[in-house]
Amino acid sequence: MLQRPRRNRKSAVIRDMIQENRLSPSNLIFPLFIVEGENQKTEVASMPGIYRYSIDMLLKEVESCMNLGLKAFDLFPSVEESLKDKYATESYREGSLYLRAIEAVKTNFPEACVITDVAMDPYNSDGHDGIVEDGEILNDETLVVLGKMALAHAKAGADIIAPSDMMDGRIGYIRQILDENGFTHVSLMSYTAKYASAFYGPFRDALGSAPKKGDKKTYQMNFANAKEALIEAQLDYQEGADFLMVKPGLPYLDIVKSLADNFDLPIAVYNVSGEYAMVKAAIQNGWLEEERAIMETLMSFRRAGATAILTYHAKEVLEKGWLK
Ligand code: PBG
Repeated sequence: MLQRPRRNRKSAVIRDMIQENRLSPSNLIFPLFIVEGENQKTEVASMPGIYRYSIDMLLKEVESCMNLGLKAFDLFPSVEESLKDKYATESYREGSLYLRAIEAVKTNFPEACVITDVAMDPYNSDGHDGIVEDGEILNDETLVVLGKMALAHAKAGADIIAPSDMMDGRIGYIRQILDENGFTHVSLMSYTAKYASAFYGPFRDALGSAPKKGDKKTYQMNFANAKEALIEAQLDYQEGADFLMVKPGLPYLDIVKSLADNFDLPIAVYNVSGEYAMVKAAIQNGWLEEERAIMETLMSFRRAGATAILTYHAKEVLEKGWLK
């Protein structure tokens, strides 16, 4: 045998020497849930170790992450039912919980990278990512709301705006509004290929943002399709996206790889709430080894071609010293 691949695996030094992919703190983005109030830190039942924070507690959490070298955060609001309406007006109201949270983080930690979520669902009395009219999700009317929301986020200090709604044309529409208002420096991380997935369940529990009626299949993608992701990516590219994101992560590594192979923009992946819940539940049962299962998961995203990984594991991998 001339080729014996095992020779390159014979010692830790050689294995490290030929390792193709690495994971560093700079690859990680930590999603954080926010609630109204003071001194609030309540665990999400289906996401052990993940909490909803009031703004004062959020700042403490951000500080402890920053000290660990984790500097990018994606914020999500839990909105009181009484503030929700058909047009998600709370999403751009001056003084809203979300806008105050963005401002507070950027004022206290100017060097933190704040990513904001643009979608109607947490503020919409119908629980959808668009305006609902006679059971239909209106596309172009929804863009107007998304534009107002994105502009409010930019004014509050967002570094990166991440539209997660899957309406057609929203990247171009938001880019234009940002540019017209002097926010040419604010980036767009598009949820390019976001699938209609069962793995968002714990997230919707955390925020109380599940659709009141129906499902999201007329705007989120069919999980049987791969080529459609290339169409979405091409549109986002043409419309001015700075990052292309795939969501969920683990069941869609083929899509991550396909976008990474076909586009020169940085690729982000969202290791979503249900993936986190699944791994944590198995660990809690003693069925999987914690560090090994989580590191293997995160490295698979790097191997597939993602540079930015949104993951609820972000803080623990640093806290537990697994990247050392
Ligand atoms: C909403 C949004 C969702 C997630 C991020 N933004 C849920 C949904 O589309 O219903 C899911 C994230 C997760 O599950 O961790 N636009």
